Amino acid sequence: MKYDIADVRLADRGKSRIEWARAQMPVLELIEKRFAKERPLKGLKISACLHVTSETANLMMALKAGGGEVVLVASNPLSTQDDVAASLVKHYGIPVFAKKGEGRKSYYSHIYAALEQDPHVTMDDGADLVSAIHKEPGKYKRRIIGGTEETTTGVVRLRSLEAHGKLLFPIVAVNDADTKHFFDNRYGTGQSTIDGIVRATNVLLAGSTVVVCGYGWCGRGVAARARGMGARVIVTEVQPLKALEAVMDGFQVMPMKEAVRYGDIFVTVTGNTSVIREEHFLRMKDRAIVANSGHFDVEIDIENLKKRASGVRLIRDCVQEFTLAPKRRVYLLASGRLVNLSAAEGHPAMVMDMSFANQALSAEWLSRHHGSLERKVYKVPQAIDSEIAAIKLRSMGVRLDGLSPKQEKYLAAWESGT
Ligand code: ADE
Repeated sequence: MKYDIADVRLADRGKSRIEWARAQMPVLELIEKRFAKERPLKGLKISACLHVTSETANLMMALKAGGGEVVLVASNPLSTQDDVAASLVKHYGIPVFAKKGEGRKSYYSHIYAALEQDPHVTMDDGADLVSAIHKEPGKYKRRIIGGTEETTTGVVRLRSLEAHGKLLFPIVAVNDADTKHFFDNRYGTGQSTIDGIVRATNVLLAGSTVVVCGYGWCGRGVAARARGMGARVIVTEVQPLKALEAVMDGFQVMPMKEAVRYGDIFVTVTGNTSVIREEHFLRMKDRAIVANSGHFDVEIDIENLKKRASGVRLIRDCVQEFTLAPKRRVYLLASGRLVNLSAAEGHPAMVMDMSFANQALSAEWLSRHHGSLERKVYKVPQAIDSEIAAIKLRSMGVRLDGLSPKQEKYLAAWESGT
C-alpha cells in the first residue's frame, strides 16, 4: 500500500482519538453497520480530499465497510492530524497522503496521488480534486460517476463550473443539506473558531470587541459564540438581508473601515477575497488579532502585511507578529488559514456526525442513481436529510410529538378559515 504521512509511530495516539470521536458519531456508526451488511459501495474507488481528522477517519471506515476502496488526502495544508493519518494507515489499512504543514508542492502531489487511483467517486472539501480533474479531464475523468462536496466555497466553485456548462459529472452538494449547514456551519464553526483563537492566543474574550466579517451560517455561529463568551460583537456585511438579520439578532453592523477602529479580534468568514487589507491594517488598534475561518487563505491580505511589516516573528505557536509601525502590531493566526482546523481540532464529532452521514449516504445515492443523473450540482435528497435528523434526535434521546388525524386533516384542507 502506498501512502505519505508524517510519522507512523504516532498511530496509537491517533487510534484512541478516532475511537473518542466515534463515540460521538452515532448516526455514522449506524450507517456503517448497515453498509457492512449491504455493501452498497462494493467495487467503487473513492478519492477523498477532506480535512484529515479523527472525524474524517470514521467516515473513511464507514465507506470502507460499505465496500468502497478509499484513498484520503488533505484538503488543507495545515488541518491534517498526523496521528490520525498514521492510525488510518497502520490500523485500518487506508492509504493517506497528508502531512500537517506541508507546502504547496507536497499538497498538490497528494491531490494527484488521489487521482492516480482512477476513482469512480470524488469526495471534496473545497473542490480541489474536482478542479484538478477539470484541468486535465482526458487524464483523470475516465470512469468518474459523480462526486460530493462538503463546503460552501466548494459548492460556489462547482455551481460556477455548472453555469459555464463545464461541469463534467454530477456532484451532490452535501453542504446544502439542512442537517449539514444548519449545524456544522453554525454550531461547528461557531465553537471551533473560538476554540482555535483561544488555543492560539489564550486571550480573554469577555470585554473584548470581536469583529465578525460575514454573516452567513458560519458568521452567525461565530458571532453568537463570541457574544456568549462576553465579547462585544460587530458584524460587517455586503448583503442587506444578512446585515438586517445581524442587526435584529442584536449585533452592531458597520463598514469594515469603521469597525477596524474598535476591533480587538477580527474573524473573516465571508468566502471572499481581500476582506481585510492594507487600508484596514493601517487603521487597526495596536495588537489587533486577525484570524480566518473561511475555506481559503485569501480573506486576509497576507502579502500586504508581509510587504508593509518592518519585522515579523512567531511569538507563539500559530501566532505571527507583524510590526507595521512602533505602536502598530498585527497578530495573524495560523498563517491566515482555517483557524479552527489549524490551531484547534475543527468541529466537534457530534456535529461532524451529521455532515459525514450526509457524505456517506450521498455516495450511496450516487452509486444507485448515477445512470440517470446529469452533469449538474444536485441537492442531497430530502429523504436523506430527514432520516439523518430523525436518527440524530433518537440518538440524543429526544422524542417528538406526532400529528393527530384531526391535525393532519386540518393541514391538508383549504376550506377552513376565520
Ligand atoms: N471541517 C470542519 N471541522 C472538521 C472536522 N473535525 N473534520 C473534518 N472536516 C471538518
